[in-house]
Amino acid sequence: MKSRTSRLDRFISQNSTFSLSDTRLLLAQKRIFLDGRAAHSIQQKVTEFTHVVLDGRCLRDNRPVYLMLNKPRGFVSATKDTRHSTVMDLVHHPQKHELHIVGRLDLNTTGLVLLTNDGAWSRKVSLPETKLEKTYEVTLSRPLTDEYIRVFREGIYFAYEDITTRPAHLEILSDYTARLSLVEGKYHQVKRMFGFFQNEVLALHRVSVGHISLEGLDEGHCRQLTCEEIAAIENQ
Ligand code: URA
Repeated sequence: MKSRTSRLDRFISQNSTFSLSDTRLLLAQKRIFLDGRAAHSIQQKVTEFTHVVLDGRCLRDNRPVYLMLNKPRGFVSATKDTRHSTVMDLVHHPQKHELHIVGRLDLNTTGLVLLTNDGAWSRKVSLPETKLEKTYEVTLSRPLTDEYIRVFREGIYFAYEDITTRPAHLEILSDYTARLSLVEGKYHQVKRMFGFFQNEVLALHRVSVGHISLEGLDEGHCRQLTCEEIAAIENQ
């Protein structure tokens, strides 16, 4: 997701009939307002969520939106699909068309999906460097052993990407079920990690991303994140 932050004079020249060099005069005449205050420098930053008014006309008025969804099986993590319903079919929000999915789940995976129009926030969620844990409950076709815990902690080599997976934490809950926490999200990562042991994943459910937990949200339902949930990622 590309950053939409630009310098004020560039923003004005791209979003009005005025040129880069006209901006200084507009500033002197107090004709530009950023978030309700008269702008004072051509170098001020205009982010994707800055409210910009020029001569009483609104040039940008985007509000950040942060949603979480409890994805059922059979819904594609995409904004459009010709064959299946998409997670967007479960979202009812006036700015729905602006949203992107933060960390897709496979068609048959269930659970927590985050959606936002804030590119900087979603990058924080997705980048392994942020070390934000994504936790999954997994049901396997064959019994688990303690060997899995060691191998997942040490990392598994994925030849296709030529990478070794970052240390992951596995908690064995029963012979066939476990909770797995990862800080990255490679393609089909959980299935491929258990695939290392030729152990097929029968059910996969994402229960949390950092401090954001699915608890209390019914399947197929969507809600806005709280200020605390949004800030917990920003401050990560
Ligand atoms: N890992 C997978 O294999 N599938 C998902 O949907 C998510 C993580």
